[in-house]
Amino acid sequence: MSNKKGRVDLLLGAQWGDEGKGKVVDLLGSEVDVFARAQGGANAGHTVIVNGEKVVFHLLPSGMLYPGKLCVLGNGLVIEPEQFINETKELFDKGQDRARLAISPHAHVVMPYHKMLDKLQEAARGKGRKIGTTGRGIGPCYVDKYSRSGLRIEDLLNADILREKLTQILEEKNMILTKLYNEKPLPFDEVYNPARKWGEVLAPYVEDTTALLRKAVDDGKRILLEGAQAALLDIDHGTYPYVTSSSTTAAGAFTGTGLAPRDLDRTISVVKAYTTRVGEGPMPTEDLGEVGEKLRTQGGEFGATTGRPRRCGWLDMVVLRYSSALNGADVIALTKLDVLTGMGPVKVCVAYELEDGTRVDTFPTDTRVLENAKPVYETLPGWSEDISWCKRFEELPKAAQDYVNYIERELNTPVKLVAVGPDRTQTIDRGMKD
Ligand code: GDP
Ligand code: IMO
Ligand code: MG
Repeated sequence: MSNKKGRVDLLLGAQWGDEGKGKVVDLLGSEVDVFARAQGGANAGHTVIVNGEKVVFHLLPSGMLYPGKLCVLGNGLVIEPEQFINETKELFDKGQDRARLAISPHAHVVMPYHKMLDKLQEAARGKGRKIGTTGRGIGPCYVDKYSRSGLRIEDLLNADILREKLTQILEEKNMILTKLYNEKPLPFDEVYNPARKWGEVLAPYVEDTTALLRKAVDDGKRILLEGAQAALLDIDHGTYPYVTSSSTTAAGAFTGTGLAPRDLDRTISVVKAYTTRVGEGPMPTEDLGEVGEKLRTQGGEFGATTGRPRRCGWLDMVVLRYSSALNGADVIALTKLDVLTGMGPVKVCVAYELEDGTRVDTFPTDTRVLENAKPVYETLPGWSEDISWCKRFEELPKAAQDYVNYIERELNTPVKLVAVGPDRTQTIDRGMKD
């Protein structure tokens, strides 16, 4: 029997990322004691805008702007130390690093050779097979983790252990770099010396984060686990191989923090009011014409990490039914509803027509089948009124309300929050904070 006192919310992306997770985390922040990330690394780009000031978090949890809170980087992350240093410094320079930070000693270190290999592997895949990664070394770092040849944060803290492990690792990496990719080998000192410095800078933050989180739960604290990426980028359940290298669905939050599944109280699924994707891979509702262009322009759909234009299209209910089931979504935060203003009638994909003419309303397991799937649309009334000022659901035009109600009904999940603009204040809270 659990005698748990605290409250744990898990917030996850429902599509292909960039749903507005950062904004929703920040919005819930005033109620939260501990923010934690469980997977991914600096491939994430989570945008928070407060009083017109924009901050993009890549590694740090999006709760960093709240004074006195605890922000945790869990064991499931892959951490690029330079990125961590730059991101904390940027906040510090703005006088905004108010939260306390803790890093798990078991998180893995993204090393320079991981970033090199990420780029070399992408180039080797060539056109038609490349994944379109963020180039942050995420895949190669997770490969080393699972092949048990990675460096963990704890290894940076001990000069002798670091030297011993790195000597062995570099021997192998340099073979790969020189023999396979015709690159120059990495000199030991050029890798070791900065890594030692990273150890010194990171040391004050390193704590047993699993124990910290356990204690927070037992002490009755409110915890928000912030997912990075999204369900369709999940290494197991996403559109493989066009995915990221971590478990982005609900289960990843437990392996990545050491909390137990029974600690979880509520799963918040963040759904963008239309679909976007950055990088390669199938996206049935991608619109290469006017609609896609308009969504990209009105929605400012350019990558927060790489600046790449995001692929855009109408909302895909087949994707959402799939991700809601995978994650066990309890509530939905619907974002960017304002972007649909003035789009004319709004389309929603309800099923796919496959290459052989069959119609399916479940998500195909085969990525190649998905690549040839044509969206089957239903058309809903649109609206042209500005909604970015709305604070209450009743203030939305009827067609916008109906759109929200449609999503709620089709997914059988309450939409507890509607975002109508990028700023913290541009939000309709329908009980998400309760
Ligand atoms: P994340 O990765 O899920 O945190 O999302 P990103 O930050 O990468 O991308 C979401 C983008 O949409 C950011 O530029 C946000 O500032 C912006 N945004 C979030 N919510 C809204 C909204 O309701 N309306 C509009 N117009 N922009 C939003
Ligand atoms: P947030 O947390 C959108 C995509 C990349 C690429 C694939 C693999 O901001 O939603 P990787 O560098 O992880 O090996 O790239 O995953 N990708 C994202 N797309 N939002 C993200 O994060 C992403 N993180 C990775 O574009 O297609
Ligand atoms: Mg993003």
